[in-house]
Amino acid sequence: MQLLSRRSRYVKNIILETENRAHELISQGRKIVKLNRGDPPHYFPTPKYIIDAYIDALKEGKTFYSKAAGEKELKDAVIGRYDRMYGAQLNEEDVIITAGVSEALLFINNMLLDPGDKAVLFRPYYAQYIPRIEVEGGRVVAGRYEMESGWKLDLDGLERKLKKTGRQKGRIKYMMITNPHNPTGNVLRRKELTRLADIANEHGIVLVSDEIYDEIVYNGAKFTSMAEVARGMPHIILNGVSKNYLSTGFRVGFMIVPGEDKASVVLKKKLADYALLRLCINTPAQFAAAEAMNNTKEHGKSIKYIVKEISKRVNYSVMMLRENEHISVVAPNGSFYLLPKLDFSRLDFRSDKEFVETALNEYGVQLTRGSGFGEPSHFRIVALPPVETLDYAIRQINRMCEEHSRGMKAMATAKRKAIDENAPAAI
Ligand SMILES: Cc1ncc(COP(=O)(O)O)c(C=O)c1O
Repeated sequence: MQLLSRRSRYVKNIILETENRAHELISQGRKIVKLNRGDPPHYFPTPKYIIDAYIDALKEGKTFYSKAAGEKELKDAVIGRYDRMYGAQLNEEDVIITAGVSEALLFINNMLLDPGDKAVLFRPYYAQYIPRIEVEGGRVVAGRYEMESGWKLDLDGLERKLKKTGRQKGRIKYMMITNPHNPTGNVLRRKELTRLADIANEHGIVLVSDEIYDEIVYNGAKFTSMAEVARGMPHIILNGVSKNYLSTGFRVGFMIVPGEDKASVVLKKKLADYALLRLCINTPAQFAAAEAMNNTKEHGKSIKYIVKEISKRVNYSVMMLRENEHISVVAPNGSFYLLPKLDFSRLDFRSDKEFVETALNEYGVQLTRGSGFGEPSHFRIVALPPVETLDYAIRQINRMCEEHSRGMKAMATAKRKAIDENAPAAI
């Protein structure tokens, strides 16, 4: 008898695939610089005013099951944030609180996809979108970001693809946009968002916009929320406290369905039903998340500091990577990821997997391979650690590429020094 369901084979997380090996190396005394996980509190502690609010909630006995779709205090805080930042007028029913955007993705895919249905993603995509679609028996229609144009969306290509796909079996149910983008750091311009909304409207596709990095924007870019351009058509905005509010471990996210059209009303009602299935999310964390958003004075200070620091770290990493002739990289202007491209014609690695395994095992740097994001010629760097750590790690990457230049390997192995000598403390 087959114990596991067939669909369970799609459950995986490529960002964490080297985690066991990294822990093994660390337990052997090796220093590993972890550039694989976008977890800001390791480098930017959760602000004290948020921690205090969490402790207060616990002391005040807010440890009961909350309302399934979220406590009123938190919904009001979300409504206030979207009014302040994007001029959106939301009601309580428009907001569904989830255990992070991650849970929102589970709800959305289960709610919208029957086997054979399709979702439009743009490659490279956030790795975690894929297993959720596959588990539902859904299929991905892949639009493209193009590296040659500085990771711009290929919207003409998308229109051509949708025309073709429209004639095939299986309905396209939703289009997922990630803005600011993980893993390229691209921030979409208002013009592009408007065109995306028009395309989705024309094809009757629900727009889902993951805006979890909406305040982490720099290098002169300006962020526009899909909530500002998709008014009057069905769309779902995803966000949470993980990144902007440095609270990944709280597991608090939210979905917003602002529309009053027929489809939007059906969507928000059904999403609230999904919330009922798991009773509620962490109650004290909801009160802390409400304070995180309501205390604009403290948040203003925190976000200003982290955006300045992150842009410094990202830009430094770009500069260091550009010293490596085997790698090309586009400078991000949002989030904190970089997705450099490897020139395999000049390197002796057979795949991105071999590249990241060598980086971890021999050079002490933990990266994520590009295949997980749909780009097997690339790898992803999380540019959150301090500049000195990034400096060390990227020097290691650059050294590795030099030592693995085609024809260089034999010579390099002979001259390589012990690699851990100059490593900063493990993180
Ligand atoms: C684009 C994107 N969406 C969602 C998530 C997960 O968010 P959450 O912590 O709210 O589940 C991440 C985490 O890295 C992300 O990069």
